[in-house]
Amino acid sequence: MKSVMYLYFFLVLICLKDTGVECLTNLQISTVGHAVLGPSDLELRCSYNPESGDDIYSIDISAELNGQYRTIVAFYPENKRKDGRLRMDGNYLNGRVTMNNPNQSSDVAVLIFNQTECIDETMYKCRVTYDSNIGTQNQESNATAIYLEGRPTVPDSVPSYIPSAGIEEGMSVVFTCTGNLGKPMGKFRWIVYRRNANGSMPIQVSLYDNVTTTGLEIPGTCTFNGTSQLTLQAESLDNNAVVRCEVVYQDVPQDLYQQSNINVYYSVRNVTVTKSYLHYTFGPGRTTLTCTSDGNPAVRNDDYKWYKMSQQNTVIETGFQLLTNATVGESDVYICVAQNSYNGKTFSSNSSIQIKIGKMLNS
Ligand SMILES: *[C@@H]1O[C@H](CO)[C@@H](O)[C@H](O)[C@H]1NC(C)=O
Ligand SMILES: *[C@@H]1O[C@H](CO)[C@@H](O)[C@H](O)[C@H]1NC(C)=O
Ligand SMILES: *[C@@H]1O[C@H](CO)[C@@H](O)[C@H](O)[C@H]1NC(C)=O
Ligand SMILES: *[C@@H]1O[C@H](CO)[C@@H](O)[C@H](O)[C@H]1NC(C)=O
Ligand SMILES: *[C@@H]1O[C@H](CO)[C@@H](O)[C@H](O)[C@H]1NC(C)=O
Ligand SMILES: *[C@@H]1O[C@H](CO)[C@@H](O)[C@H](O)[C@H]1NC(C)=O
Ligand SMILES: *[C@@H]1O[C@H](CO)[C@@H](O)[C@H](O)[C@H]1NC(C)=O
Ligand SMILES: *[C@@H]1O[C@H](CO)[C@@H](O)[C@H](O)[C@H]1NC(C)=O
Ligand SMILES: *[C@@H]1O[C@H](CO)[C@@H](O)[C@H](O)[C@H]1NC(C)=O
Repeated sequence: MKSVMYLYFFLVLICLKDTGVECLTNLQISTVGHAVLGPSDLELRCSYNPESGDDIYSIDISAELNGQYRTIVAFYPENKRKDGRLRMDGNYLNGRVTMNNPNQSSDVAVLIFNQTECIDETMYKCRVTYDSNIGTQNQESNATAIYLEGRPTVPDSVPSYIPSAGIEEGMSVVFTCTGNLGKPMGKFRWIVYRRNANGSMPIQVSLYDNVTTTGLEIPGTCTFNGTSQLTLQAESLDNNAVVRCEVVYQDVPQDLYQQSNINVYYSVRNVTVTKSYLHYTFGPGRTTLTCTSDGNPAVRNDDYKWYKMSQQNTVIETGFQLLTNATVGESDVYICVAQNSYNGKTFSSNSSIQIKIGKMLNS
């Protein structure tokens, strides 16, 4: 205990200017460039100001690996005529770093990462070993950290959903999205676009940006595989909707997304009958009745049936159009019944129109 304290006192003493002992100063280690995983321009720079008379033997960078600082690289001043090289504990850097020794114009040793990996995220120190007029000295810098970021990538696939088929109005549908959300882990947000009735132009209707995203570290990397689930109550208006899962990284939505189109079955509704005259003449004339409806699946032509109010048990015509006979006895209330089916269920809806066929005054 006593000897340790003595040693500490001794080291402090020799580095004080006013002891008159020449001493290397401003030893520090810092990073330059972008600390991103993969192809990189990141540099670790160890700089110092030697005093004249210091004979520098080596400049070593050590990294904290498994809780201990280990020397990974050694650099040499110009007069030693030795290339910077990896030490045994730094072999993991082989092939992806370059070492630039200090030189006459700059007292900086530079370790350039051409490619970074997760293991590079740790603490680093620099140590200079030199001979001064009082013998061999060692000086160590404060530590600096490398914190690496990882870019997210496009989600693994289009969002999957359950049930995967036969979605009908009113059902809960659970969408799932997975993918590499980078480091630090980003999140997914969901956007639902509906199509308008006439065209395919999708219109954003809902943004869900607070749906939970969970993450697991991707084996062999330090980036995260995120998962997010969105639960939607399907409505008829969601038929043909686009459900998009989008990556948000460091709070910024990225142009990285995947989307699914959904088919939502809904019962036939809004049955409407319209009439048109074939000839615009006064008096009796043949009239075409046209029946339209909304539903998914759309009502097939054969699933439109026409009835007369006076004979409700008899189908007078099948198909979306009905040509009425132009005889007085044909005056009646005409009913169009439209039907669609899905998931083993059948739905129908109807609408009626009154047609009065009058007598020509001169007949
Ligand atoms: C000296 O080292 C610096 C930093 O590594 C480098 O930019 C410069 O090109 C080197 N100069 C010579 C003459 O090698
Ligand atoms: C750095 O990596 C690029 C490709 O990623 C390669 O073309 C280049 O030769 C590498 N440079 C060094 C010094 O390893
Ligand atoms: C090293 O760290 C100590 C304690 O945090 C600080 O007082 C000192 O200024 C640092 N030295 C340099 C060169 O940054
Ligand atoms: C994320 O995890 C899912 C399984 O939960 C897997 O199918 C997928 O391939 C993983 N994605 C990545 C980028 O690791
Ligand atoms: C489609 O409908 C929208 C209103 O829902 C209308 O503004 C637009 O002009 C229509 N487009 C076409 C091609 O009919
Ligand atoms: C999510 O955000 C929506 C509005 O954007 C809000 O109505 C809802 O309460 C939020 N849910 C949670 C769990 O924060
Ligand atoms: C019903 O259909 C008619 C004609 O197609 C349309 O004008 C109307 O907007 C529809 N109503 C609803 C509630 O969809
Ligand atoms: C029109 O008359 C023809 C022949 O008399 C008949 O078969 C048909 O069912 C009639 N149509 C309607 C809609 O009553
Ligand atoms: C038309 O709809 C009404 C109410 O939904 C129903 O009571 C009636 O039986 C239907 N008529 C036909 C001919 O299907």
